[in-house]
Amino acid sequence: MSFTAPIQLPGLTLDPHWYRRSLFYEVMVRSFVDSNGDGVGDLAGLISRLDYLQWLGVDALWIPPFFTSPLKDGGYDVTDYRSILPEFGTLEEFKELVTKAHERNLRLIIDLPLNHTSDQHDWFQQSRKHPDGAYGDFYVWSDTDEKYPHVRIIFTDTEDSNWAFDSVRRQFYFHRFFSHQPDLNFDNPKVHDSILEIVRYWLDLGVDGFRLDAVPYLYESEEGNGEGEPPTHEFVRKLRTMVDRDYPGRILIAEANQWPREVAAFFGSEPEPECHMAFDFPVMPRIFYSLRSQRAGELVRVLSETTDIPAAAGWAVFLRNHDELTLEMVSEEYRQAMYGWYAYDPRMRANVGIRRRLAPLLDNSRAEMELAHALLFALPGSPFLYYGDEIGMGDNIWLPDRDSTRTPMQWTPDRNAGFSAADPGKLFLPVVQSLVFNYTQTNVESHLAQSNSLLHWMRNVIHVRKSHPVFGLGTLRAVSTSHESVLAFTREYTGSGTSLGDQPETLLCVFSFSHNPIAVRIEDPALTSLHLYDIFGGSVFPSFDEEGAVTLTLGAQNFYWLHCG
Ligand code: NOJ
Ligand code: CA
Repeated sequence: MSFTAPIQLPGLTLDPHWYRRSLFYEVMVRSFVDSNGDGVGDLAGLISRLDYLQWLGVDALWIPPFFTSPLKDGGYDVTDYRSILPEFGTLEEFKELVTKAHERNLRLIIDLPLNHTSDQHDWFQQSRKHPDGAYGDFYVWSDTDEKYPHVRIIFTDTEDSNWAFDSVRRQFYFHRFFSHQPDLNFDNPKVHDSILEIVRYWLDLGVDGFRLDAVPYLYESEEGNGEGEPPTHEFVRKLRTMVDRDYPGRILIAEANQWPREVAAFFGSEPEPECHMAFDFPVMPRIFYSLRSQRAGELVRVLSETTDIPAAAGWAVFLRNHDELTLEMVSEEYRQAMYGWYAYDPRMRANVGIRRRLAPLLDNSRAEMELAHALLFALPGSPFLYYGDEIGMGDNIWLPDRDSTRTPMQWTPDRNAGFSAADPGKLFLPVVQSLVFNYTQTNVESHLAQSNSLLHWMRNVIHVRKSHPVFGLGTLRAVSTSHESVLAFTREYTGSGTSLGDQPETLLCVFSFSHNPIAVRIEDPALTSLHLYDIFGGSVFPSFDEEGAVTLTLGAQNFYWLHCG
């Protein structure tokens, strides 16, 4: 497979708002390419596929943790924030990754698990052995396991308390996640200093930003629920101040699995901004709900709750990632409906969510995968793709926990799907061999060979999206429709953004969740007498009449992106 790189000027564009016009791609180093045949993906492997990612149209990579770790939580259990897990590679290779990515105008976001460490981290070992020593106060210790009663348990499958007893220190320690992941004590200023030093270390190595893992949980209190408490926001502001002052142009992305208002709080407000971006947890599950309920109402409602954010802030919109599809932010009624549609086998569930990949969730329906991506790409914010979803990769629900969706990337129909030259038994996880998603059919090489494959469709849509800056920079306004299955909104960009060459534009985006063809009347006085054409093929559509109405027909689970002028 070879990918011809588009001609471009070397180096990164200087746009300070680059993240608002970028397509991000989450790639787990362990799962992508194994360069040395030991059965585990590595940095050298990732470097070897940067051309593929550039060809696809990716602008930035998000790499989950690759630091030294016992890997009891996919690397989110760190034992040394300054070194790289040896099986992933060396610091020299990491530097090469930064250079080679930047040469291709690809930015690099790394993960920062700052709420907790592994219990094998030297800080924790010192803390448990020497309560009066330098690290004695680095974690949240208590004589009882009754503090913070309003804090919910997140990993409900494995934990029944947020406290665990340490037999050495003979005290309890607090943990929001696994009991092998003690929470750092942010009341201790030395913890702040240590985290800020780690941040500087990686920024000095050239990374373009951080995903702030589990950021709402830094502080807890007796009265609160330990999610986005005021001192947590204060710390994020302090971090942002340092980044803006010493590393302008680098970004912070909040991983805050909360209700709309609480997530939006992580953007902060002028003159005290917090994160540049935040994952849009409220919208994500509602996309899946709409696909099966064939109703757009809940999406319209939540979109209207997430529009009021600072001008420079951006949503990170996504369909899937390396975790379970979380259902924490939907009502009990919706949750039960979603379990019924998407997790009919108990094996498909994990914690309060569903541990499946996109293509199996959508029953490998090409129409649904296209509709879901077209919506994702049209929402305000920047889309984040999960590796393998561009070829509709399957999952393996027989593997434990979230490993079901972290299997090796499928490159070719050959041994180990072209991921590794190792003996198949040696792979860190087996490749997917299910009936429907077998790697012999679902792989990059086969998709490249078929001009109408999902991969080619995705690349095409990504490039169309790129040529319309309104998608990244424009405002959203919901438009009323006569059909409960139809979501319609305008995206409008007046051209007053930060970058040169951006054209003002108004688009009308229409999505039908109906499983049958429909006709729909769309009405909006602001669109009176406007002409419409499709931005893919340029076909002229009926115009809005003098009353601001137009009737469109849509095939089952179909969509339009229409230029209004
Ligand atoms: C969020 C990460 O996305 C998840 O994979 C991890 O298990 C938790 N943080 C705990 O570190
Ligand atoms: Ca390897």
